[in-house]
Amino acid sequence: MDRGVNITDHIVWVGVNDYETHLFEALWPLPRGISYNAYLVRDEKVALIDTVKEAFIGELLGKIDRHTGGRGLDYLVVNHMEPDHSGAVAVLRRLYPEMQIVGNAKTAEFLKEFFGVTEGIHVVADGDTLSLGTHTLQFHLTPMVHWPETMMTYATPGKVLFSGDAFGGFGALPGGIFDDEVDTEDYYDETLRYFTNIVAKFARPTSKAIAKLADVDVGVVAATHGPVWRSDPKAIIERYDRWARGPAERGAVIVFGSMYANTERMARAVGRGLAAAGVEQVRVHNASRTHPSYILNDLWLYRGYVLGTPTYNTQMLPTMEDVLRRAAALPVADRVCGVFGTYGWSGGGVKAVRAAAEDAGWRLVEPVVEARCAPSDADLDACGKLGANLATALDGDSGGC
Ligand code: FEO
Repeated sequence: MDRGVNITDHIVWVGVNDYETHLFEALWPLPRGISYNAYLVRDEKVALIDTVKEAFIGELLGKIDRHTGGRGLDYLVVNHMEPDHSGAVAVLRRLYPEMQIVGNAKTAEFLKEFFGVTEGIHVVADGDTLSLGTHTLQFHLTPMVHWPETMMTYATPGKVLFSGDAFGGFGALPGGIFDDEVDTEDYYDETLRYFTNIVAKFARPTSKAIAKLADVDVGVVAATHGPVWRSDPKAIIERYDRWARGPAERGAVIVFGSMYANTERMARAVGRGLAAAGVEQVRVHNASRTHPSYILNDLWLYRGYVLGTPTYNTQMLPTMEDVLRRAAALPVADRVCGVFGTYGWSGGGVKAVRAAAEDAGWRLVEPVVEARCAPSDADLDACGKLGANLATALDGDSGGC
């Protein structure tokens, strides 16, 4: 991989693997690392499609030199300006002052604001093409997947779609870079987590982008993260399309915080109520043990939420607050939600969770169960009833609070 990997005879993966970064965007865990994919199109003119994070510039430059024989770049196509992909822009501009940077009008704004680059920019509009000789690049503007300037670049011959963040996933490339060289089933969890953590807030623009490109004959999906999909590009496009469109599946996610297992006992009672009412898909997360990044996967997939907290300094447990703040940022209004929890002397935790759920537009299911110190049998019975009512609500009409 240090030498790059050919996608076609003239298109080369020159990306890098990052096993160093602990939190992507300083927020999202990377236990399996991440790749920043960049690609060289070698023709009469040489174009680099996207770059890498700044810390990996040396590795990228080595690959560019190897595959261009030191002649440098004619074009740098910037599909996305987030610094995990634009980290080498300023250095490349200094190394290759004649190089044209290709982007749209929004890209030009970011080039100026991030790097002070205002010259040598080739501004393209939706549908514009650029000939490199034998190869032609066509640019498709796909705003808000994941920033306003995002676009995709389609290269022929080869039918390669350089798709930016769309169709990407967490997880470094373990030697194999193609979908037929890695265990794709193993990748889907990390790909879903990338989708829910990074792209899902922009699910609607993502759906629009996929629809817009429906008539493009895609032979290879070359995203900026994760495998290159050459054997079955439709597989990742269809999966992203399904995730972006929803609707949520029939099932429930119980997320709780618990300091001394009293709120956890209530969570178990709710789970029993759901199961007894016939809900097989029940996911349970302790918000103090599982990072919100992983919980978001289930909150995206399933329609039923059950949220439990002890009262901590008159509020919900901070780990619950973290999960709910991140979940509320997602466009997941079509949800039904139960709330439960405990308090010792002053309440506040359950009230705070209920307010957060209502603010997010999740439809509340009764009863809201609040136990003092430790749940009584009556409290646990009420939790079972909450589970049963949520099961009924899963089959009802969607609607806000
Ligand atoms: Fe992989 Fe939005 O950057």
